[in-house]
Amino acid sequence: MPRKTIDDILEKKQKAQRIVMLTASDYASARLVDEAEVDIILVGDSLANVVLGYDKTSEVTMEEMLHHAKAVNRAVSRALLVGDMPYEAYQSDARRAVENARRYRDEAGASAVKLEWFRDCVEVSQSIIQAGVPVMGHVGLTPQTAREFKVQGKDAQSAQEIFDHALALEKAGVFSLVLECVPDLLAKKISENLSVPTIGIGSGVHCDGQVLVTHDLLGWADGFKPKFVKQYADIRGVSLTALNAFCRDVKDGNFPDDAHSYHMKTDEIRKVKGQA
Ligand code: KIV
Repeated sequence: MPRKTIDDILEKKQKAQRIVMLTASDYASARLVDEAEVDIILVGDSLANVVLGYDKTSEVTMEEMLHHAKAVNRAVSRALLVGDMPYEAYQSDARRAVENARRYRDEAGASAVKLEWFRDCVEVSQSIIQAGVPVMGHVGLTPQTAREFKVQGKDAQSAQEIFDHALALEKAGVFSLVLECVPDLLAKKISENLSVPTIGIGSGVHCDGQVLVTHDLLGWADGFKPKFVKQYADIRGVSLTALNAFCRDVKDGNFPDDAHSYHMKTDEIRKVKGQA
């Protein structure tokens, strides 16, 4: 089965079909997400928090992101694979942005990269696109540089700013745009004014697609859960019950039982020299 292409994603907007994007950070999660027939798998820098235990997403390095992206790439057969550019890959040194975007494509098989909005975002996006790597933009709340994690664009002035960023990125050639934590009416206005699809997270139902962090959706991560996260399973709870049962079985001598052990003839073991 060939992977989805950028054209497939653009076509979905033209046909008013909603786009589904989810994150994956390793081989096992990517196999699952790919099997669920999502359109786009993002190796998101949120793995900094949910997988690597950093406080901030800005702490994860390009090498670490590539390590995870390579594992995800081995698993994906249907979805479009997008690599999230970590802060150090383009914001702390914009001159290395093109090189790092190419590394995602050439070393980790990504079809595109995602960049969060920052001062030089339009120029940097343009140079990456010109170098042959498609770009997904990301406006609204941008966790790599956010001082506060709250809804963005609630008043006309800040909403206009986000709207302008979105339009500038479309003009620069991005093939899609993540809208994070903006009011639903602003997301609607942006989505209606762009020809490329918007993919919302915490931005209401009017976006052309939706994304969640898979760890949040599955109830894998503990700790703070933003209002926009809908938890569809309790993987953490189920796992903890199983882990506790294993610990009890081992301590009580109930694991491994006969069914989980290998056997040999008693004649054979008698021939083995030893004390007991
Ligand atoms: O890193 C990430 O998971 C993301 C999504 C929330 C869009 O950027």
